[in-house]
Amino acid sequence: MSMEDELEAQRQRAYAQRSTQERKVRAAAVTAVAEAQTAERALRPGEPVPRFRLPSIEGGLADVGLLLERGPLVISFYRGGWCPYCTIELRSLQRWLPDIEALGASLIAISPEMPDRTLMTVQSNALTFPVLFDKGNEVARQFRLTHQINPQVVRYQLGNGNDVAAYNGMDTAEVPLPATYVVGTDGVVRYAFVDADYTRRAEPEVFLGVLRDLAAERDATPGPASASASVTGAETSPMSSEQVTAKVLAAISGAVGTRAGEILAAVIRHAHDLAREVRLQPQELLAAADFLQRCGDISDEARHEYILLSDVLGLTMVVDTEAVGVANGALETSVLGPFYRAGAPWEPTGADISRGTGDGEPTRVHGRVLDSSGTPVSGAVLDVWSTNGHGLYENVDPSQPDYNLRGRFRSAADGSYDLWTVKPVSYPIPDDGPVGDLLAVTGRHNMRPAHFHLIASADGYQSIVTELYTGDDPYLGSDAVFGVKPSLVVHYNRIDSPEALQAVGRSEPYWNLEHDLILTPGQASSTGFSTGRSNNR
Ligand code: BEZ
Ligand code: FE
Repeated sequence: MSMEDELEAQRQRAYAQRSTQERKVRAAAVTAVAEAQTAERALRPGEPVPRFRLPSIEGGLADVGLLLERGPLVISFYRGGWCPYCTIELRSLQRWLPDIEALGASLIAISPEMPDRTLMTVQSNALTFPVLFDKGNEVARQFRLTHQINPQVVRYQLGNGNDVAAYNGMDTAEVPLPATYVVGTDGVVRYAFVDADYTRRAEPEVFLGVLRDLAAERDATPGPASASASVTGAETSPMSSEQVTAKVLAAISGAVGTRAGEILAAVIRHAHDLAREVRLQPQELLAAADFLQRCGDISDEARHEYILLSDVLGLTMVVDTEAVGVANGALETSVLGPFYRAGAPWEPTGADISRGTGDGEPTRVHGRVLDSSGTPVSGAVLDVWSTNGHGLYENVDPSQPDYNLRGRFRSAADGSYDLWTVKPVSYPIPDDGPVGDLLAVTGRHNMRPAHFHLIASADGYQSIVTELYTGDDPYLGSDAVFGVKPSLVVHYNRIDSPEALQAVGRSEPYWNLEHDLILTPGQASSTGFSTGRSNNR
C-alpha cells in the first residue's frame, strides 16, 4: 500500500467517525490555515536553510552544518505522534530510508513534542533515523511553519484525549505545518513540500527524484582530482544561473530568521527568476538601472517618483490590501499618494480650508466617526487634503497659500465632524518623468478620478489612510493608481435652496457630502511619509 493510499484510508476513517458539525469545523479550520497563507510564506526552494542544532532523542546532537558536510539532507516536520497522518508519514519515511541513504543523503524528523512523547513515537513506530525535539517550535519558526490549531479543533482533540499543548510543554496548541524539505550540500533548499491541509504529505518518490538530481549534479562536478584540469580550462562545465542564485542566497544566510533576511531572500529569488523568465538582456538591465536613476533625479521635497512608480504598478494597493484588514462595513484604505504633507493646521469644527481665491466649487464634508456598533468615536483626528479646482496640490503650485486645502480636525463628543473645502476634480498624476514614460509605453492614461484624501486615526482604532471617490467621475473605473474600492465611492448633492443656504450661513450654492466614517478596533499607527513644499515657488 502506498503512503497516499494509507493517508486516504485514514481520511475516510476519520470522516466516518465525525459528526457533521465536527467535519464542518475541521474543514473551516483547514480553509482558515490556507487563507492565512502560512504554507506560501514558509521557507522555500532557493533559500538557505537555517543552521540549527537539536538534541536527538537517543542522546546525540543533530547539527545541520555537520549533516550537510556528509551529503544532502531530508528534513521532515511532523505535528506529533498523536496525529495519525504523521505516524503514517514517519513509517513511510522509515521504509524509504535505505533509498535515501543510498543516494548519500540523511533524514531527520522534527516535532515540538516533549522528549518522553517523542521517544514513544520513535519506539512505537520502530524509527531508526534521528527524531528531534524542537522545544517551543523554535526551529519550525525559523522555517516559518508554525500556526495555532483552531480552538474548536483543540476541544475535539481534548475530547479524544489528546492535549497537544501539554504534549509540547506549551501554553497553546502551536504546531508546525507538516513539511518536507530537501537541502543540498550548499545549504540551499532544493525542494519544499508544505500544505495547509495536514492530511497531505510529500510523496517520497518526488523528493527521492530531487535527491537523484543532486547525486547526478555531484557526479558531474569535478572533484579535487580534476581541479588541475579546470585550471587549463579543459573540463570545466559552465556555471548555471541557478548556481549563482544559490551562492547569493548562501551569502545572506547570516540574516536567516530576521525580517530583513526574509525580504531580501525573496527579492533575490524573484528578481533572479524574473531575469530567467524574460531572458533579461544586459542592456535591458542597464536600462532598468537608468530608469531608477531617473526616478531619483526627478524626486525632490515635494515629489516622490518611487512612490508614484509603486502606485502605477499597483504594488501600493497590493501591499495595502494585504497589510490592513478592516471590519466589514468599516472605512477601507486606499493610496496615500506622493503629495501628503504632515503638519497641516489644526482647525475647529466647521472651518473652511479653502484658503486661496478661486480654489474651486465650495463643498461641505460632514458626518460622524463611529465604531462598528454605531457608538460615536470622539476625538478622532481627520487629516484631510485635496487639490484645488485645477487639480493641483498646494505644495506643487506656487500660486496657492501654504497648506491650502489641508487641515486637521477632531471629531466632537457625538462623533461628528464638519468642514468646508472645494469639490474634488479628476486630475493627472505627473507624467513628465520616468513614470509618465512607463504609462505611455503601456498605452495607459495618467488620470485619477476626483477624490478627497483623509487619514482617520483615534486611540484604540486602526489608523486608516484613504480617499473618498466621487461617484459620477468618468475615471472611476480606470484610476491610474488602482485606488478605487466600491465602499469608498461617495455622492455629492447640490444645495441651492435659499432656506438650506441660510441654514449654513452661505449665500452661494454649494456641494454637500454627508458620510459617516466607521473605524476598526486596533493599533493606531503614524504615517511615516510626508512631502515638503516645492522649492520652485
Ligand atoms: C494622489 O492622489 O495624490 C496621488 C496618488 C497616487 C499617485 C499620484 C497622486
Ligand atoms: Fe490625490
